[in-house]
Amino acid sequence: MEQYVIKGGNPLVGEVEIGGAKNAALGIVAAAIMADETVTIENLPDVRDINVLLNAIECIGAIVDRVDSHTVRINGRYIGSLCVDNEYIKKIRGSYYLLGALLGKYKKAEVALPGGCNIGSRPIDQHIKGFEALGATVDIEYGLIIAEAERLRGSHIFLDMASVGATINIMLAAVMAEGRTIIENAAKEPHVVDVANFLNSMGANIKGAGTDVIRIRGVASLHKTEYSIIPDQIEAGTFMFAAAATKGDIMVKSVIPKHLEAASAKLLEIGCEVEEFDDAVRVVAAKQLRQTHLKTLTYPGFPTDMQPQIATTLTLCRGTSIVTESIFENRFKYVDELSRMGAKIKVEGNTAIIEGVEKLTGARVNALDLRAGASMVIAGLAAEGITVVEDIVYIQRGYERLDEKLRSLGGQIERVSSEKEVQKFRLMVG
Ligand code: EPZ
Repeated sequence: MEQYVIKGGNPLVGEVEIGGAKNAALGIVAAAIMADETVTIENLPDVRDINVLLNAIECIGAIVDRVDSHTVRINGRYIGSLCVDNEYIKKIRGSYYLLGALLGKYKKAEVALPGGCNIGSRPIDQHIKGFEALGATVDIEYGLIIAEAERLRGSHIFLDMASVGATINIMLAAVMAEGRTIIENAAKEPHVVDVANFLNSMGANIKGAGTDVIRIRGVASLHKTEYSIIPDQIEAGTFMFAAAATKGDIMVKSVIPKHLEAASAKLLEIGCEVEEFDDAVRVVAAKQLRQTHLKTLTYPGFPTDMQPQIATTLTLCRGTSIVTESIFENRFKYVDELSRMGAKIKVEGNTAIIEGVEKLTGARVNALDLRAGASMVIAGLAAEGITVVEDIVYIQRGYERLDEKLRSLGGQIERVSSEKEVQKFRLMVG
């Protein structure tokens, strides 16, 4: 398995281009197969989860033309199978969007039960509730979710929680249903809005995305489009907290500052300077950071996907910080790994109490999931000495060329796949 080996202590300084949003791209790639014409998607992140999904739609007959690593043309005209089931698709969460897309277009879909980061039980009851409200029958057999409908008719659906996945999946199933669908308590994340905008560019009729209530009028078909995916707010936030933790000064470019407001607000609270430009944000870390309190919430609150990253930064902030995780029930697994690096964190239920320390020290740690893995990299960049992050395949699911981008900011980090290469790195950095 590949690893990152990191020598900490260098402040991150410079500019970094942020890629397209993974969690928007998953819904958009799934939605693309709903047209029988060619759809062009730009600013696609070249990350493992997206490549797995592109492979999955190609396996069922969609034409997938990779124009370059960030641009793809997709045509769903020749889809011949409605069953998506392979060893890779089981590993990603976004696979379940093919349920909504295939059900919405063909009134039938069979998709392997979704995988994804192990941060809680992550049921899909709200997705099923939405599909059934539209007139589908949904069964789970042999590790597959099987959804089928004679007809899909618009419905008034109340989500029990503002689920990102369920909101996107129900939108996909409803855009070609007969009549009007209303989704109450809808998720408002930027990537939900991006999927809705993409569907509208294909001829769908969706209003209210980004608010609690999304209104959809079914259309008979969807058509070709050219679309560019929004920047990834979580990738941007990860670099912003890495700058704070390493006492650096970076500019994240090609971003939408409004999508980063929750992260920027917390960076200001801990003592950083934050400057917003049209499509960039600059973060200048203070010499001594101070504690803060936060609770993860749905958008526009502080994103759960940035919780491990800010918590890692807070281990180096003077005072005691409190981080409460309100979205997932098991998203503090990385704390044990940070403790191996000298962090002082106590987890009580869904709250982490973080006592700031003077320094972290390098150690061999594991990437337990995507964002936990990113936080191990932040810790390694800030720590004294050498850190080896194992199982970086998790990190590669959602971050494109992370080591390369960090090196361009002065970070001493290499991707290696053997102990010999780790030793070589140690000798090189001294
Ligand atoms: C999406 O997951 C993201 N993944 C997650 O990002 C992100 O953490 C999450 O939204 C919240 O923002 C993708 O977009 C691929 P939810 P999703 O449905 O859709 C419960 C990353 O790091 N729930 O909004 O699975 C669920 O258990 C990943 O990029 C139900 O109970 O999240 C959770 O507690 C990690 N029943 C809460 O709702 C359901 O049917 C929010 O989940 C659906 C969800």
